[in-house]
Amino acid sequence: MYSHIISEKQGIVQLITIDREHKLNALNIELIQEIGREIDRLNKEQSVRGIIITGKGNKAFAAGADIAEFSNFSAEEAKEMSTNGGIVFNKIEQSSIPVIAAVNGFALGGGCELSMACHVRVASENAKFGQPEVNLGLPPGYGGTQRLSQIIGKGRALDMLISAKTIDATTALSYGLVSQVVTIEELMNTCIQYVHNLAHKSPIAIETVIKCVNTMYSENKGFDYEINQFSECFELPDFKEGTQAFIEKRKPNF
Ligand code: COA
Repeated sequence: MYSHIISEKQGIVQLITIDREHKLNALNIELIQEIGREIDRLNKEQSVRGIIITGKGNKAFAAGADIAEFSNFSAEEAKEMSTNGGIVFNKIEQSSIPVIAAVNGFALGGGCELSMACHVRVASENAKFGQPEVNLGLPPGYGGTQRLSQIIGKGRALDMLISAKTIDATTALSYGLVSQVVTIEELMNTCIQYVHNLAHKSPIAIETVIKCVNTMYSENKGFDYEINQFSECFELPDFKEGTQAFIEKRKPNF
């Protein structure tokens, strides 16, 4: 049914696993659309009480959008990618079934953005978070400038966004980026248990809470602004140098 994700029902829990371990679960366009289709399907069925998103293996949740895929994109193609990806990330954020990110390693760029679109983030001790897009001559393009500021506050968000620094799980916990840090062995059981606890709460009340919280941010024009800024950068030399440097496994020279 899907080429880049695995989705399994385990009782009242739906587990979505990003299945590109050889590329550190980098998010290509089709993969993001598959997640979107699955979120739509689950929200129509309403047969599960919680959705867990994780990455295959013990090294990465997702190491970002697939740089090789977009390295030759025009501004127009970049805008389409960012807009369509944003629609999926909004679907996750608006899902009436809670979505939990089980962050099992690198959550960088689009990976960090995906985790932030989820309602709850639980990290393993080896998890690493960051928005390293400035290394590529870009800002984030899947809502990272907005959600990171919403979740950890403007000061820390700007620090992470402009420095491209990676933070470990303990720092992410102290920033409020994750709710809990557990060992890699405990990660899945902790998230599954989280969903089982939700089974004792009212689904309609949970859905209402999600809608109320999201309403606080619904007038935000920053997401559209980010999409435009992201795509315009694709016409600039820094983008060519940044992506080429990644592909050639060298440091960029801006
Ligand atoms: N897009 C495409 N491919 C990616 C990727 C991404 N975001 N992140 C990792 N990969 C690929 C690598 O190119 C490599 O492929 P290869 O074996 O065919 O050469 C493979 O995944 C393993 O990654 P590698 O870089 O060799 O692992 P590492 O342990 O040395 O480094 C990271 C891990 C996460 C530090 C490094 O992969 C990285 O910096 N990734 C990009 C992070 C990023 O900029 N994300 C934002 C994108 S918008």
